[in-house]
Amino acid sequence: MTDLIEALQAPVADRGTGPVRTGTPVSRVDGRAKVTGQAKYAAEHAAPDLAYGVVVSSPAAKGTIVSIDTRAALAVEGVVEVLTHLNRPKIRSFDIAYKDMTAPAGSPFRPLYDNHVMYSGQPLALVVAETFEAARYAASLVTFEIDEEPHGTKLSANLDRAYKPKPLKAGYEPPPDEKGDTDAAFDAAPVKIDAEFYSGVEHHNPMELFASTVIRGDDGHLIIHDKTQSSQNSRWYVSHVFGLPKNKVTVRNTYVGGAFGSGLRPQYQLTLAVMAALHLKRSVRVVLTRQQMFTFGHRPETVQRVKLAAERDGTLRAIWHQAIAETSPIEDYVEVVVNWSGLLYACDNIKLDYKLVKLDQYTPIDMRAPGAAHGVHALEVAMDELAYALKMDPLALRLKNYADRVPIEDKPYSSKELRACYELGARRFGWDRRPLEPRSRKEGTEWVGWGMATGVWDAMQMFARASAVLHADGKLVVSSAATDIGTGTYTVMAMIAAEAMGLPLEDVTFQLGDSTLPVAPIEGGSSHVTTVGSAVAGVCEKLQKTLFKHAQKQRGSPFADVKFKAVEFAGGMLRLKERHETAVPLTALMNDSGLVRLEEKYLMLPNMLKQRKFRRLVHSAVFVEVRVDEQTGMVRVTRVTSAIAAGRIMNTKTATSQITGGIVWGISQALHEESYADHRLGRFMNHNYAEYHVPVNADIHAMDVIFVEEDDRIVSRLGAKGVGEIGLVGVAAAVSNAIWHATGKRLRSTPMTPDKVLGGGP
Ligand code: MOS
Repeated sequence: MTDLIEALQAPVADRGTGPVRTGTPVSRVDGRAKVTGQAKYAAEHAAPDLAYGVVVSSPAAKGTIVSIDTRAALAVEGVVEVLTHLNRPKIRSFDIAYKDMTAPAGSPFRPLYDNHVMYSGQPLALVVAETFEAARYAASLVTFEIDEEPHGTKLSANLDRAYKPKPLKAGYEPPPDEKGDTDAAFDAAPVKIDAEFYSGVEHHNPMELFASTVIRGDDGHLIIHDKTQSSQNSRWYVSHVFGLPKNKVTVRNTYVGGAFGSGLRPQYQLTLAVMAALHLKRSVRVVLTRQQMFTFGHRPETVQRVKLAAERDGTLRAIWHQAIAETSPIEDYVEVVVNWSGLLYACDNIKLDYKLVKLDQYTPIDMRAPGAAHGVHALEVAMDELAYALKMDPLALRLKNYADRVPIEDKPYSSKELRACYELGARRFGWDRRPLEPRSRKEGTEWVGWGMATGVWDAMQMFARASAVLHADGKLVVSSAATDIGTGTYTVMAMIAAEAMGLPLEDVTFQLGDSTLPVAPIEGGSSHVTTVGSAVAGVCEKLQKTLFKHAQKQRGSPFADVKFKAVEFAGGMLRLKERHETAVPLTALMNDSGLVRLEEKYLMLPNMLKQRKFRRLVHSAVFVEVRVDEQTGMVRVTRVTSAIAAGRIMNTKTATSQITGGIVWGISQALHEESYADHRLGRFMNHNYAEYHVPVNADIHAMDVIFVEEDDRIVSRLGAKGVGEIGLVGVAAAVSNAIWHATGKRLRSTPMTPDKVLGGGP
């Protein structure tokens, strides 16, 4: 870890030396390490005698391997071994060994386990060589004889096989029971909408490819640099699959180049790299190719139907939301798609339904705002359709049905400043100048339209441990096995600790990304600040109290008779709140107390009894301007305003980055991203950056982020609720609604490509 501490402590101009306050903009403490290339990612760690593994993927979608011909590959100079299910080292046989901490119900995929092929692109062999080039070339020479069976990869052709999944996943909430009588209310209402939605498969495309470098020590200890959202989850998985004791495996993910769900579960390159390292008793690195990034979890293809009914004044009478999504043959990947429709708008009759269809694909995986990205999209486009049917402004319809208590259950919200999001967002955007009628503004060859949508996401808190060590020179090191996937964890945790201890940011280092550090949850669900941040605040409070006790014990101490409440930590000192001159520098206090280092540990457990009484959510209001070329159908999103209510914002700079990143991804969901399958082959065909479209700078125009004031001490002691996924939710719906407003064409499937815009649907 010393390398890391040095990199993080390198002088950085904008780290500043003044007091640090949360709620202000602070540049990333790891920014310099990243832009100067000091930050090492999973595939960049060196090791003596490193071997390189390249994965060979299945050409067939389903079947049984009859034979594998590895002779040509083995004949390539530099090739060390070709691992297949026939010669791999022993791995565990029980399902439980393969269950990582976020595994859904079912039987997890086991790479190179047996001769069974369950999806196209499945890893069937690992070629290991002295060089990457030799391994890559030899991998192209491995051939298979596969006894193929018919496969099904098309959701729309298999909807009749939909079933209700078992709710066996930590944190997964199945749809609640129906409220009221939705069908009767729908039938009786004067104004109604009944719409079907389709969302195609999306694949994770972080710039950093999935990679694992397994460095084997002489004693057999494995240090694994893995691209993951949890070093401890990967450590746990490797230990279980290979039967290795905890002290024989250390996983590190010091820097992660984007993950956003793809790194929640260990990916197969990890299993294969460890397999090869154990088999060959040497260090091994496996990096997936960009094509192979399309051979593991993806955002699932989903079809939805939303029925809404209202009185003529806009009062909602019925909400009915159904979703059918795909999963793999082996696991029930579940996400919360429809439940949001019971949390947003006041309504007496709500019916929600969620089903799965097993397709011959790899198990889907979470992708930023999993479930909400689809579910809120459908609800919010349907709300726009209802608004037009009512001849009402879409924002007025939302305000008319604003929920002050949770509609689907008898609970209050822990906090909900959504109304402020609507008001501030609309004002900043200039929403009141929007004509009600679509197709009413044209500039040059482009139709101009404005759309809006609501966003919602969970405000979660898990449990975490943290430790803090104050050194005699006044430097503080706080640790927890958290992860920074680029979201700013290093920075915000250091800020929380620096503020608590009254130290300049440059004297505080937050250590993360090592499985041997105190337990932290997986970085997912936008919960790291509420969870790890609260653990950091907790451990610092313990440190404060211990320091205070030491101060009281000093001979002639001015603090001897004061209460802890009466002191504060500021400017590198412990001092009286009311009399700042009565102060002792922490360095002097450490020295006078004979302390070289002072360590505290803390376990942060959420107050579940209190939290359970409230529905804990973050909200947003998104306003979008699009320009649609009447001849080409090209859509440009020229302006976005996103107003966010997510509790106290700890670092306004990195939080803004999270929201703008979410907006970009939302625009991407709306206009660009889709993995196209050739169902005859059961394979995704556009598996590269050329044909799988993501936005480039030219696609992204003005983005305006507003944080409305919220302070939620029910979700976390910091007042924070977590900010990340909420940036994406609702964006694609707002784009869809803006396209409708520009053109009068209602598009109910994503991505909304020019062919759909010109064709008028669906
Ligand atoms: Mo979260 S699905 O890990 O962005």
